Amino acid sequence: MASSRRSDGVLVLGGVSLAEIAREARLGTPAYVYDLDGIAAEASDLRAGFEGAPHLVAYAVKANSAGPIVKALAAVGCGADVVSGAELSLALHCGVSPEHIVFSGVAKTDAELELAIGIGDAGIGAIQVESVEEIPRIVARAGAAGRVARVSLRINPAVDMEALDTHSYIATGHDEAKFGVPLSSVPAALQLLTGSSSARLVGVGSHVGSQLTAVDGYLASARALFAFAREIRARFPLSFVDAGGGFGIDYGEGCQVRPADFVRATRKLQKECGLDDLALYCEPGRSMVGAHGVLVARVIQRKIAEPRRWMMIDAGMNDLMRPALYQARHRIVPVVLDPASSVRGYRVVGPVCESSDDFGIHDLPDGELREVAILDAGAYGFSMASRYNGRALPAEVFLRGGAIASAAPRHAAEDWVQDRLRATAF
Ligand code: LLP
Repeated sequence: MASSRRSDGVLVLGGVSLAEIAREARLGTPAYVYDLDGIAAEASDLRAGFEGAPHLVAYAVKANSAGPIVKALAAVGCGADVVSGAELSLALHCGVSPEHIVFSGVAKTDAELELAIGIGDAGIGAIQVESVEEIPRIVARAGAAGRVARVSLRINPAVDMEALDTHSYIATGHDEAKFGVPLSSVPAALQLLTGSSSARLVGVGSHVGSQLTAVDGYLASARALFAFAREIRARFPLSFVDAGGGFGIDYGEGCQVRPADFVRATRKLQKECGLDDLALYCEPGRSMVGAHGVLVARVIQRKIAEPRRWMMIDAGMNDLMRPALYQARHRIVPVVLDPASSVRGYRVVGPVCESSDDFGIHDLPDGELREVAILDAGAYGFSMASRYNGRALPAEVFLRGGAIASAAPRHAAEDWVQDRLRATAF
């Protein structure tokens, strides 16, 4: 929770009043507001955890792909973990060097592989192989381009889901997940790579899941990964090990570990495994941006039918999907707090015609309430937003140095209308 409350009761983020932003007619609500300074500081803290050892913080662009955010992270030395050709192009536009890009994904298209292989002098840093079947496809495209594709093998370490302490939808490193090369298929993958002059194995990786609030599951995955790296490094001259992302944040129920704690524990294990000469990569998304963004929404009306009380706001599940999709809970607080007003539990809901358009019950004032802020919404908020029900995508506001640095107003309702009418004679 990077926002704080001023003595006059107004909620601020990055030194800027969220009431002013919410009431700025040129922007509109709902509006995502992000603190670029907080995001850059988050990245610098994490990088300091490597204590000067060779590393790459490959920001998982899927968490929040807003240009100003990716640029701010590139400016403090982050690379990018991308999962589509579009994310790859965006990272390049934002100044991430091709060398510092890794490309994950279980079903990359031929066009995406060609893009990754063809960029710059030597293609991107690594295409993360997620199946045996992908290897001949990469080799064929690199061969045709007269290039040697750098690849890394993303193994599925088969970590027990129970041990992960996260929602099953965001656990990826268990043995029924579609992600990564299953351990039983690793020999076949290595065999294909051994003979290839068009693909070079430069790293190994794993990503076990998201919103991890303890280091144990992450370390279990890293242990399997490091054992694998030790086993193959004589045959394949690796330059990095990539332990993945997944560092959790505090959504209000507590999170004892900071992202740098994951890094320190992983580095210790890396040393114990005799892999200290390899660069350590990680792929954090949520922890870089989550706490540094809020979603500001206006209250449309209340609906009271005691004992039920609803607070109806202009943000819905289409703007922030996490509660509907993962039963996630985000704190919701008044943008301007009147300490004199009594509070009661209100069920906060949006305008979308779905029962799951529901942000849960929150203590809110009985008195005047113009706007609320949904906290810790910087990650997987806008990036997962949709236009369901003919809703316009929310505004985005980027703060730096205590002021609005740039902003994109809420999309116009008419954009949606035009988009739905765009099919023409074929
Ligand atoms: N690397 C890979 C290969 C991934 O699949 C992911 C996330 C990350 C890195 C970044 O993980 P993070 O550090 O953000 O936990 N929409 C869900 C989260 C989905 C995560 C998907 N993969 C949510 O809102 O909780």
